Amino acid sequence: MRRLRHVGYVTAMAQHGKSGRIVVDLEPEEKRRLYAALSLSGLTFKDWVRDAADRFCADRDQPPLFPANDTATLPAASERIASSIGVSAGNGTETIQTPISVVSMFSGCGGMDLGFRGDFDFLGHKYRRLPFQVTWANDINAFACKTYSRNLGAEILSGDVNNLIGTMPNSADVIIGGFPCQDISINGNGAGVNGARSGLYRSMVEAISRIRPKVFVAENVAGLLNTNNESSYRQVLRDFIGLGYNVHHQVYTAADYGVPQTRERVFFVGTSLDVNSYVPPKQVLDRATWITAEQALADLEALDRNPGKNHIWSAAKKSPEQGNRRLRAERPGYTIRAECHGNIQFHYKLSRRISMREAARIQSFPDDFVFEGGLREIERQVGNAVPPVLAWHIARAVLDCFK
Ligand SMILES: C[S@@+](CC[C@H](N)C(=O)[O-])C[C@H]1O[C@@H](n2cnc3c(N)ncnc32)[C@H](O)[C@@H]1O
Repeated sequence: MRRLRHVGYVTAMAQHGKSGRIVVDLEPEEKRRLYAALSLSGLTFKDWVRDAADRFCADRDQPPLFPANDTATLPAASERIASSIGVSAGNGTETIQTPISVVSMFSGCGGMDLGFRGDFDFLGHKYRRLPFQVTWANDINAFACKTYSRNLGAEILSGDVNNLIGTMPNSADVIIGGFPCQDISINGNGAGVNGARSGLYRSMVEAISRIRPKVFVAENVAGLLNTNNESSYRQVLRDFIGLGYNVHHQVYTAADYGVPQTRERVFFVGTSLDVNSYVPPKQVLDRATWITAEQALADLEALDRNPGKNHIWSAAKKSPEQGNRRLRAERPGYTIRAECHGNIQFHYKLSRRISMREAARIQSFPDDFVFEGGLREIERQVGNAVPPVLAWHIARAVLDCFK
């Protein structure tokens, strides 16, 4: 709940009045204290009550008191998402949580990091701030680093992790990383974890063994679990378990968590013996309620090309090999790929491929997240990212390990 200066808590009764309006009852002395605190904090009464009520209802697993304004096109999905996000203290006061420090490897443009931080909006829902705080981040791609610092406002080291691993802090509560997957990916060359890039997961193993975080989260393509990658998969699991952690791994379908995309990714979550075991987040949607491409993109249909908003698209003609799929309006988008060389999926209605802003929507990035670089660079960053909304749900489950 948004913190008010000089006020620890406020006791109020809120109910639906006969006219359908929300009525808030406050004792006169409480009211005086509240209004003084609101003016000191620069908040309006309406915004503060809305925020407090949303969090209270979410915490008690009750339907929201205030229906979301802007989710008219997503009725079933919207309600289920609304009841799955925004949990807070629940006793009417703000709990001040100690930051949980995070080392972020292979951070890319920051999709996973944004999910761990929270405090962003997507399709009319607010994904609340979580207490994770990145203390070290790195990526080899200079454009991804520019995007990262622009949007996350945090420092990131640009360069090869092999040269920078020595600059990591000695301690951190959590290590996260989507280790490069091109060698394993079904779109890659299938070289497995012994390939030049997937072998980079070994630097995650090294970082975990040095820093000994309480929790680590490693992400990769679901194809790692395919039978043709069995030896790679077994090796990754053996190495992680060998570090002395309980390791939970599972394939997540992003659409089940409110991302308008059928992307599947595996997450390995390791927990040390001094924290609670990891319990994966519950699905918030199912096939019947998945957010469709049209629901996610309709309001962008009339928008002209706009490089400032990353609303630019590839003019690549149909390729004989891949990337010829047209989005279907009534289902979520297909997996956004990093190495598609302009052959990204076509719009479900317009006679062009989807724009980078539309691809970012399909990946659940908020609209104010702006990517640096030209079309090709943005395509790579968006396609590489962990969808922030999926990462947020996983981060919230990781938070429970610390309770
Ligand atoms: C799957 S992406 C991670 C995306 C990121 N987790 C996100 O959510 O946006 C893998 C990242 O590893 C980076 N990478 C590849 N080789 C690297 C290296 N040697 N050192 C550091 N980063 C590297 C790539 O540039 C890419 O951004």
